[in-house]
Amino acid sequence: MGRTGIFSAHSTTVALIWFTSAVLFFFLFQMALHNSTSSSDSSVSKSELRSKLYDKMERDLDEKGAVFLKGGETSQSLSLSDIFTIKDGSVTPVLKAANPPVRANVLYLSTEYSVPIFEAVKSIFDPYFDKAIWFQNSSLYHFSMFHASHHITPIPASNVEIEAEVAAVKSATEHMCRLKIVLDRVILTSTGVLLGCWQVISGTDPVTIRAKLRTALPHAPEKQLYDAAILHTSFARLLGHPKISQTLGRSSDELQLFHELVARLNKQIRGFEAAVSELWYVEEYDVLALALNGRMKVRKFPLGCYSS
Ligand SMILES: *[C@@H]1O[C@H](CO)[C@@H](O)[C@H](O)[C@H]1NC(C)=O
Repeated sequence: MGRTGIFSAHSTTVALIWFTSAVLFFFLFQMALHNSTSSSDSSVSKSELRSKLYDKMERDLDEKGAVFLKGGETSQSLSLSDIFTIKDGSVTPVLKAANPPVRANVLYLSTEYSVPIFEAVKSIFDPYFDKAIWFQNSSLYHFSMFHASHHITPIPASNVEIEAEVAAVKSATEHMCRLKIVLDRVILTSTGVLLGCWQVISGTDPVTIRAKLRTALPHAPEKQLYDAAILHTSFARLLGHPKISQTLGRSSDELQLFHELVARLNKQIRGFEAAVSELWYVEEYDVLALALNGRMKVRKFPLGCYSS
């Protein structure tokens, strides 16, 4: 594939892809709305809630198709080449300043666990996508928990206010227990995001973590980006057609290939167990800084308690 092969094809036929965090945002936000009553339903366990949510997310690709290959879905769509460019033969994000910076609270997955996942994902997907894929940096695997400010509802804050938020989050983490988690499944969304969806074995449930953060951060946006129960991390973003596309006549064959690759990955890493012991308060100075290796300021807090 030539230097601009993938991308020039995109700029004409697949020109616009709804790709930024907005992709995942709206996708999950919609689900959050549909599931908004569920987190208060104590008769259903949180892990059952998560399973149902993951079932729904898993169906998304079949229901909507590979939207990331079609593009031009909304007037707000961004062209792929607005976000990624090819520099020295590799895909490079085009970073945009976030103004005001996004303030995200995330659970951090250490490299002890992320590197084996990264390697599995890369070995299965890289051969089929050449440069049309972006892999999440394995040093920055994270689970989004709660935003003090996000790009849909920006809440500007002074340095003093930010320091007050940091102190409140630090204090809240002292009452959270380290998590043991297990990878429930990997799914590919219609927007091309390869997501790891996790269950909690022990420790403080994400629903409770988010509730504690909401209490600590009273000025945060009312509407958060995700369902309260979800525990997910992004592994990769598909940016274009698989390489063997020329030999795949119909788009259903492409879909078939996606399912096969996801199944192969699941076979390898489903059931993978990990421990989470840090919460990060992250100021993202670039849009999607955690996902795209942008500029950010990170404060790291250990979760205060161990649970058996
Ligand atoms: C991945 O993230 C780490 C930590 O922020 C950084 O040092 C490293 O340069 C990043 N890797 C790439 C390929 O950008």
